[in-house]
Amino acid sequence: MRDGGRTMSIADTPLDAGQPLRRPVQLARERAGRLRLRIAEGHSDAVARQHALGKLTARERLDLLLDAGSFTEIDMYRKHQVRGMKMAENAPHTDGVVTGSGTIEGRRVFVYAQDFTIFGGSLGAAHAAKIHKVLDLAIAAGAPVIALNDSGGARIQEGVMALDGYGGIFRRQVEASGVIPQISVVLGPCAGGAAYSPALADFTFMVRDIAQMYLTGPDVVAAVTGEHVSHAELGGADVHGGRSGVATFVYDDEESCLADIRYLVSLLPANNLEPAPALPARGAAFDRRPALTEIVPTEPNQPYDMRSVIAELLDDGDFLEVHELWAQNVVCVLGRIDGEVVGVVGNQPMVLAGVLDIEASQKAARFVRFCDAFNIPLVTLVDVPGFLPGTGQEYAGVIRHGAKLLYAYCEATVPRIQVIVRKAYGGAYIVMDSRSVGTDLSLAWPANEIAVMGAEGAVNVLFRKELAASTSPGDLRTELIKQYTEELMHPHYAAERGLVDDVIDPADTRIAVAKGLDMLRTKRKDPPRRKHGNAPL
Ligand code: HXC
Repeated sequence: MRDGGRTMSIADTPLDAGQPLRRPVQLARERAGRLRLRIAEGHSDAVARQHALGKLTARERLDLLLDAGSFTEIDMYRKHQVRGMKMAENAPHTDGVVTGSGTIEGRRVFVYAQDFTIFGGSLGAAHAAKIHKVLDLAIAAGAPVIALNDSGGARIQEGVMALDGYGGIFRRQVEASGVIPQISVVLGPCAGGAAYSPALADFTFMVRDIAQMYLTGPDVVAAVTGEHVSHAELGGADVHGGRSGVATFVYDDEESCLADIRYLVSLLPANNLEPAPALPARGAAFDRRPALTEIVPTEPNQPYDMRSVIAELLDDGDFLEVHELWAQNVVCVLGRIDGEVVGVVGNQPMVLAGVLDIEASQKAARFVRFCDAFNIPLVTLVDVPGFLPGTGQEYAGVIRHGAKLLYAYCEATVPRIQVIVRKAYGGAYIVMDSRSVGTDLSLAWPANEIAVMGAEGAVNVLFRKELAASTSPGDLRTELIKQYTEELMHPHYAAERGLVDDVIDPADTRIAVAKGLDMLRTKRKDPPRRKHGNAPL
């Protein structure tokens, strides 16, 4: 616990007021208090160096992350037991990681924060054992775990014992996957195999300038490939936030990063057996949003920002966007509708016309699976021209990656609502939570176009011979497009066949979705018994 800047341990039971302490007990307590204070304050030179690097210390980070006074530290006195490599005379308490539990807005979380001021936060056997313990406790208690990474990786002096320690972390993370939310925060180096820990987490946060994550550092890269890159160019926050997709969130400073982790936790259930924390209802079922009609152009090729639609649908227009900088042609956010937490997936017509491609499929699939694992209903906003064509995509396996999203939706048992905002073509229509893959409620705006492909493409395929033989192919094409549009693409075509449950006024979308979520609140669907499926990883 932090008490006016002082770190308290689990042994700090309050003194019995009025009961005189026997002197030896009192002395022992004072000694223990002084030791705890010394451990918590750390070595002043190392702390100054950490600050000079523009980084907070492990304990300063925990102070910002957790509710004031809520932290209970465990294993503070732990030391490594290594005797060789001149380690016997250098065995600081904590072994370079602060572990324990606290609360965020009164809700329990487990934490570990690597302390770069001790052995560069590197991981040896004792350090790893502390992390193992906190992961085991988090799983047993059914509460989220938050890892603050700032480490030089495997402790070189401990050899294979360090590698064994990492393996134990990864195994526990996999065991915890889909059971408790896992948040990983990179606030310094995270090198080598250590990077697999953030990769296994549900959400990974990084802070610009101070965080780097890579499997092999710049020196090895230069030796093996001849490429010369800086730490930031190789594995900085923008690389992982915008290019590799390893980082879910990217920040300019630690304070805003830690504040957003608190916001994220406020949207998550403690574990897979609990619902996400709801706030009081907001009367969304009576809340018309006429602005929606203005935001989305009726012309199918005109761009707009899907996030403006999402802001109209969610309470207070508030949401947390995951992977904001990566695969921007699909938008995934967490927010609330009528106080209930929802996950929203939407095509983004502003980027690549909102097509689905490899990265968008991966991003949305992981998000859908997270929401499904943690009982968060899904709202899918569809405005998609199809999958991105081309050899680049095909050779890189767009079929395999697109199947991930398909698999994720097919498997999801949480309440699911699809809203077709404008167009929905081909395989992308099916994948974006169509009736056929199991959506519970499909709503469409009146100008929707649901079809195998756009009318022009359809006519070119169906009437190739007629068009080639025609003396006025332009007029014939126009006529055939009109005919095809009227017969197969009119907005009620899908509704008449039960593939869309209702055609709604765009201004009523928040109302319709809120009512749908209410209707589906008690949805129960047990997946068939099996060890696990075989998703196209
Ligand atoms: C032991 C380490 C250490 C490590 C840093 N230190 N990394 N001690 N094992 N892995 C110590 C340094 O000796 C130094 O101690 C202190 O931490 C601070 O480190 P500096 O180098 O002074 O800091 P800085 O200049 O900021 O550089 C940070 C760094 C660099 C980029 C992380 O220390 C570095 O390259 N370290 C080695 C990284 C690495 O190769 N790790 C192994 C990766 S392989 P003093 O006493 O001088 O203060 C791996 C495999 C895991 O992790 C596989 C799991 C499956």
